[in-house]
Amino acid sequence: MSARVALVTGASSGFGAAIARALGALGWSVALGARRLDKLQEVALDVEKAGGVPFVGALDVRELESIDGFFAAAEEALGPLDTVVSNAGVGAPNRLHETSPEDLREELDTNLMGALLVARRAIPSMLARRRGDLVFVSSLNAVQPRPFQAGYTASKAGVEGLARSLQMELEGTGVRATIVRPGASRTEMGRDWSAEVVGPMLASWKHWGVLRHHRYLVPESIAAAVVSAVTAPPGTHLDLIQVNPEAPLLEPTPNGEPEPGD
Ligand SMILES: NC(=O)c1ccc[n+]([C@@H]2O[C@H](COP(=O)([O-])OP(=O)(O)OC[C@H]3O[C@@H](n4cnc5c(N)ncnc54)[C@H](OP(=O)(O)O)[C@@H]3O)[C@@H](O)[C@H]2O)c1
Repeated sequence: MSARVALVTGASSGFGAAIARALGALGWSVALGARRLDKLQEVALDVEKAGGVPFVGALDVRELESIDGFFAAAEEALGPLDTVVSNAGVGAPNRLHETSPEDLREELDTNLMGALLVARRAIPSMLARRRGDLVFVSSLNAVQPRPFQAGYTASKAGVEGLARSLQMELEGTGVRATIVRPGASRTEMGRDWSAEVVGPMLASWKHWGVLRHHRYLVPESIAAAVVSAVTAPPGTHLDLIQVNPEAPLLEPTPNGEPEPGD
């Protein structure tokens, strides 16, 4: 496959960084956007080492001007974009009535409005070239809502609604929209959540049957799903990829060896 040009939002950590590295390993040019430029520079070095051509730019997906500026700079540096991965996201769990309006707005503006504005900016050039991939990083919450995450769940259900609408709107144009729907994963998200909220939150997840074990995905698993979608040959459309952590073995391994996946 010939090298292509990709843009990844939220590429400074977690899934976004792993996706950028994986696309770099294909030899692609990758525009990395997020607010923390120092972190982006570190990921860009990995992209280069993997054989890709990185471009780093400041991006705040809550701001239209920032999205326009980042896209324009990326296109000027790397050329027209073949693939856009809308991955930037935040989540701050709490009971809805104890969540500030500012935190709710932040979740909706970043996760949902950001995804809408990024896709809106990406589509015209893809339509003109009759080829392109839009990937939306959703969450299992979109189809399996969780207590303590009303705003986050609403934002991700919205992302999947947006992606489904686009799949119809773009049918027959050569532009594919894919939902990648991760389950629980180990990234930077959650590291600053307070124990006072996390304790009752996990207890309520268990109560409602949405926490069956404590295995977490690594970001590379999501990067592999994104690579599958965007390298699927023309004529194939992976419209939804759901990725969950595999449950730990029920029986201990012989000699107490680590299980596959640990
Ligand atoms: N972790 C999980 O269990 C899980 C499960 C399902 C889905 N997801 C989704 O996966 C995506 C990636 O999250 P992650 O788990 O990899 O968490 P993460 O490590 O915290 O990464 C989030 C990324 O989003 C960026 N970001 C946040 N606000 C932004 C803004 N306003 N503008 C631009 N970039 C922004 C962050 O960069 P800066 O702070 O540098 O801007 C960071 O690069 C999110 O959409 C999340 O909802 C996560």
